[in-house]
Amino acid sequence: MSSFSVLHTWQVPAATLAAARALLDEAFDGDFSDEDWEHSLGGVHAFAWDGDELIGHGAVVQRRLVHDGRALRAGYVEGVAVRAGRRRRGVGAAVMGALEDVVRGAYPLGALSASEEAMAFYEARGWQRWRGRTFALTPAGVERTEEEDDGIFVLPVVPLDVTGDLTCDWRDGDVW
Ligand SMILES: CC(C)(COP(=O)(O)OP(=O)(O)OC[C@H]1O[C@@H](n2cnc3c(N)ncnc32)[C@H](O)[C@@H]1OP(=O)(O)O)[C@@H](O)C(=O)NCCC(=O)NCCS
Repeated sequence: MSSFSVLHTWQVPAATLAAARALLDEAFDGDFSDEDWEHSLGGVHAFAWDGDELIGHGAVVQRRLVHDGRALRAGYVEGVAVRAGRRRRGVGAAVMGALEDVVRGAYPLGALSASEEAMAFYEARGWQRWRGRTFALTPAGVERTEEEDDGIFVLPVVPLDVTGDLTCDWRDGDVW
C-alpha cells in the first residue's frame, strides 16, 4: 500500500468511484448489486492505493437503528473489499481503522452486515456480533429479518444490549 485517502463522496473523483465499484464487483464475484453500491454512497470513503491501482475500499454512511426505544444515529459500514492477491497484508485493517475513527468520532455506534468470510476479520477488530433479534422498518411496517440475525455486527461507542432487538431503517435492496 503506497497511499491512503479518506474522502466524503462529494470529494471523490468519478474515476475513483468507478475504480471502487470495479474493485467491489471483482471482490464479490459479480454479486455486488447496483443497490449495494448505492448503499455505499453519501458518506465517508477510505481508499487504499498501490501506485495508481486501487487495492482497498470501504465506506461509512449514516443510518438510523432503533434500539431500546431510541433511534440511534449509526455509522453503517458498506462496500469493504481488498483486491484478491493483496489480502492478509493489513490493507483491510487500514481501511477499517479509518472507518472506525469516523464511527467513534461521529456516532454512538457502528454497524454492518458481514459476509461469511469477513466475520473473523470484524471479530478480530472488536466488532460484536448482534445476539438479539433484528428487524427492518419497511413501508408495510416493522418486519422481522431473521435470516440476518447471525450476520449483524456492531461497534458500540455508547453501551448497548447486544441481546436486545435492533431495527434498521428502510432502503431499496438488502435492508441490512
Ligand atoms: C474481508 C477482507 C476485506 C479482509 O481484508 P484483508 O486486507 O485481507 O484483511 P487484513 O490483512 O487487514 O486482516 C486483518 C486480520 O483480520 C483477520 N482476517 C482477515 N481475513 C480473514 C479471513 N479470511 N479469515 C480469518 N481471519 C481473517 C485476521 O485476524 C487478520 O490478521 P492476520 O492476517 O495477521 O491473521 C478481504 O478478505 C475481502 O476483501 N474479502 C472479500 C470481500 C468481503 O467479504 N468483504 C467484506 C464484506 S462485509
